[in-house]
Amino acid sequence: MGSWSGLFLTIAVFFNISDSYRILVVFPLPSKSHNILGVNIVKHLLKAGHKVTYITPFPVKNSHPNLQELDVSENFDKKNERMLNVNALLNKEFSFDNPIKMFRYTIDLFEKTVQNPNVVKVFNDTNQKFDAVIAEWMYNDAYSGIATLFDCPFIWLSTMEPHSIILSLIDESTNPAYVPDSLSSNIPPFNLKERVSGLFFQLLSSAFKTFYWNGVVEREFERLLGPYLTQRGKAIPSFNDVNYNVSLVLGNSHVSLGQAIRLPQNYKPIGGYHIDTDVKPLPEDLKKLLDNAKNGLIYFSMGSNLKSKDLPDELKRGFLNIFSNLKQTVLWKFEEAINDLPKNVHIAQWAPQHSILAHPNCILFITHGGLLSTTETVHFGKPIIGIPVFGDQFTNMERAVKKGFAIKVTLSYTMLDEFKVAIDEALNNPRYRNKVRELSAIYHDRPVSPGKELVHWVEHVVRTRGAPHLRSPALHVPFYQKYYLDLLGLIVVILPIIIIVIKQELTLNSMKKENLKTKKN
Ligand SMILES: *[C@@H]1O[C@H](CO)[C@@H](O)[C@H](O)[C@H]1NC(C)=O
Ligand SMILES: *[C@@H]1O[C@H](CO)[C@@H](O)[C@H](O)[C@H]1NC(C)=O
Repeated sequence: MGSWSGLFLTIAVFFNISDSYRILVVFPLPSKSHNILGVNIVKHLLKAGHKVTYITPFPVKNSHPNLQELDVSENFDKKNERMLNVNALLNKEFSFDNPIKMFRYTIDLFEKTVQNPNVVKVFNDTNQKFDAVIAEWMYNDAYSGIATLFDCPFIWLSTMEPHSIILSLIDESTNPAYVPDSLSSNIPPFNLKERVSGLFFQLLSSAFKTFYWNGVVEREFERLLGPYLTQRGKAIPSFNDVNYNVSLVLGNSHVSLGQAIRLPQNYKPIGGYHIDTDVKPLPEDLKKLLDNAKNGLIYFSMGSNLKSKDLPDELKRGFLNIFSNLKQTVLWKFEEAINDLPKNVHIAQWAPQHSILAHPNCILFITHGGLLSTTETVHFGKPIIGIPVFGDQFTNMERAVKKGFAIKVTLSYTMLDEFKVAIDEALNNPRYRNKVRELSAIYHDRPVSPGKELVHWVEHVVRTRGAPHLRSPALHVPFYQKYYLDLLGLIVVILPIIIIVIKQELTLNSMKKENLKTKKN
């Protein structure tokens, strides 16, 4: 027995089997869809045998022996619940077009998160160690300071397609002549107007960051994390040194969903990691429903944040009326009972979306077009009708329409006719179905699953102490050198001198000739 365990120990040491890292995962946003991205990072890391501390507003008690959750559910106070009410959005009670408000929200959220007593307990413990910190990037760079506190590598999770703001943290800005920004649905090649608006947006956002926002974030970093550094006997570094010290960006993106832009070595696209490779079996009633849907089933869900029951009555009735005239079965994720439901319409309070989309009889998905849902439609190869409501949903849908697997319908009191036309088109024209199947095949054709890739790169960063070999040299090249402004300056200074010298030579020469002539005479 003793020799066996000795042998095992040798093997374990040799192959590093016993390597278990302590990883801090920070997802403070009180939004269910963002939590799905966080929880699944945690799940993959736990499965690989690591110990995870998860800062979350959605704690699940005693879920795994290697998981410690730091409950920041107090972050919910900051969110206006009405903001996520379909009816309020429909009546334009809110607009999301005030970026300053959104930026202020991210600062409040950072403060509330790091000042939460559950988080303070860990940050204030000088014996606490982590091997890496992973945080969600949401327009606020301050979270990278948490890794400085624990003197360990830092990793961003970017929820969107790669865009210039996140890429300039690890490499440099993208070229607006052919790369759309994070909130644009333009697809290259761009016309002049699109190129100019892309350039304008990029210059504006980079000026905003450089001249205003970075200063705000730096002050918050010093104010909120500085004391912990002092307590550990460390000087507070300049925020620039913290901010551009990122080891890796994990991107919730994949080329099948976006554009084939060039990416730095430490950006790893792992879009789809939140979807289980083994889809859970459907509950008995839903399984029967889908199995028996001989003409196909249409699945309708407004996602995890929005509630269909908040729709105005005339729309609810109108949807039901349209559905009742279809020969397909309709499954609507709806949060309360409905009277006089048409025979072919079924409602479910809770719906296992992945398992429904995976069923061969599910032929169409009506969605709000959140990023997770659009990823899932490509994963499961189902065409969509999108009714975007807020945030990036408009862009996601616009992109899906341009890729050719979606039809967009605008949410309004007068949308019913358009909605009916969209359903008929999606059911009768095979091009949406064919396109999404083609993209799905591309999406699945990868050397390893995105979950495995996620774990590999996190471990790689820890093993190589921050993966400095992956970092782009562009980070250390100042702006004027990148654009050869020094050379330009040199030319501007030297060229006139050369011209003056040549001119003088010429006049000297001609004077000499004049002299010769007069001498001859
Ligand atoms: C942090 O810990 C020290 C003792 O090590 C204690 O004096 C201090 O009050 C704690 N700070 C907070 C914010 O809990
Ligand atoms: C930079 O990252 C390394 C790990 O990659 C970490 O040890 C160090 O503390 C970080 N420095 C700053 C200033 O954040």
